[in-house]
Parts: sequence; structure tokens; C-alpha cells
Amino acid sequence: MTVTIQLQKPRQVEQVFHGQATSDGAGVSLIRYLYGPLQKRLDPFLMLDAFGSDDPQEYIAGFPDHPHRGFETITYMLEGRMLHRDSAGNEGLLDSGDLQWMCAGRGVIHSEIPQQVEGRMEGFQLWLNLPAKDKMSEPWYQNIQAAEIPVASLENGGHIRVVAGSSHGVQGVMQRPYTEPVYLDVFLPAAGVVAHSLPASHNAFIQLYQGSIKIGGKSMTAPGVIVLANHPDADGVEVQAEDDSRYLLIAGKPLNEPIEQHGPFVMNTRDEIRQAIHDFQNGLLN
Ligand code: CO
Repeated sequence: MTVTIQLQKPRQVEQVFHGQATSDGAGVSLIRYLYGPLQKRLDPFLMLDAFGSDDPQEYIAGFPDHPHRGFETITYMLEGRMLHRDSAGNEGLLDSGDLQWMCAGRGVIHSEIPQQVEGRMEGFQLWLNLPAKDKMSEPWYQNIQAAEIPVASLENGGHIRVVAGSSHGVQGVMQRPYTEPVYLDVFLPAAGVVAHSLPASHNAFIQLYQGSIKIGGKSMTAPGVIVLANHPDADGVEVQAEDDSRYLLIAGKPLNEPIEQHGPFVMNTRDEIRQAIHDFQNGLLN
């Protein structure tokens, strides 16, 4: 049984972004929804990429060995198979519906390579910042299989896969300190309505990837990122589906610390970035 939520002060739509088509790794086509200009507004989130293609040419080469330092990466496969390998000797296969949560901490070198030569590959990678005091922590990662992600079922026939934080009385599979992220994958049938509780302290956005939804009288059609306005009394967001719709609802408590990014390194100062590049070039991230 799920908890029905009544909101007093739902969040409204602040902006809608349609992202930028780009490619990364060894030529993987993707849409980058969150980058530079949004990093402050959506602190603690640094990047959101969506990849989705039926054409193997657009994904087959994957992401060969590359480093990271200073944040966490969350890779969610909607469809497809991808193999992760890293410099700590870890190896893990991500299958449809699976998720990988990796804390790069002081550094890892890893690769993400498709394990299919045809068919659809679709998913998301989100970067979550670490507080300054944890940027040089020991790296770790966790592979989470589809069946391990708890589901909250809604009376309207919808359902919510609760990756992080909690929703409708269901605890997510991941809980993280400081930024207290909420990461939900929601399915709402046409005409279904759902209220999501969210702490007023959090920055929040929706990645609408299927269908069309309405928030506070504003209609939006997939694909796009919807930034939800902050308000000191805001207690959540109400979403109404106009068609069968799927979206990620992502929220986190801002760190309010300086952000210095150089490609795959995100630190607080230029000196720390110089150190990261030096350490990588000297083989210290292995
Ligand atoms: Co990576």
C-alpha cells in the first residue's frame, strides 16, 4: 500500500531545456541536458547525459578508458547491455533496468563498453558532486540489478522505481549523506496524477523521456529537462500525465561550494584541478 500525498505548496515550472546533441567517449551520440550554465542552479548535480539509439554506429565504440575525480557517476540503463571495468580491478555488467552508482573519489580510470552489436541502447548518466571534504575519499562502486530497485505502486496504475531517497513510503536502494539525493524513475498512465514530496532545501528537476505531462497548468512533451522552482515553503511537485509518460525526478541538497571542472575532474579550486591532471599523467589514478 502506498501513501497518498497532499501538497500545500507544489513547485512550479521554472525553465525547460531541450539539451544539446553531442558525442562523447569514442563517438557515442548523446543529448547533454545539464552542463556548465546549469551546474550552479542544479547544485549538487554536475551533468546529465541521455543516450538512446537503435543504430549501433551511434553507440558501439562506447567509452574507452578515461579518468574521473571528485564526484559520483550514476548510470541507469533503460535498455541494452554495457560492461564496466575499472583500474581497481572491478568488473560489472549493466543490463536493462540495472543501475551503477560509482564514487570516483580521489580517482578511478574506467571504461564503459556496449555488449551488443545490434538493438536499442538507452539510458542516462548523472554526475553528483561530492562535498569538498570527500573529494579525495577512496573510490567505490555498486552495481544494482533491476530487481533490487524497490517499486512504489500507485492507485492510478502508475509506478515509481525508487533508486535513491524515498517515495510514497518506499525507501530507495541508495541513500547518500550531505546531498541526500532523490532519484526516481516514474511511469504514469495517461490522465494519472501523482504528488511527490520533496524537501524545500533541494534543487529539483524532471527529465521527461516519454509522453507528455502537465505541472501547474504548463504542458510539456518529451524529451526535455524541466527545472522546478524553489520556494522556502515548497513541499513537492504534482505531475499530471497527458499521455502514458515516463520521467526521472531528481533532487538534491545544494553543497554551495565552488565548482571547478576540467573535463572528467570536478574539484573546488584551480590548484586541485592542476593536481588532478598531474596525478593522472603520472599514473596515480590507477
Ligand atoms: Co566515466
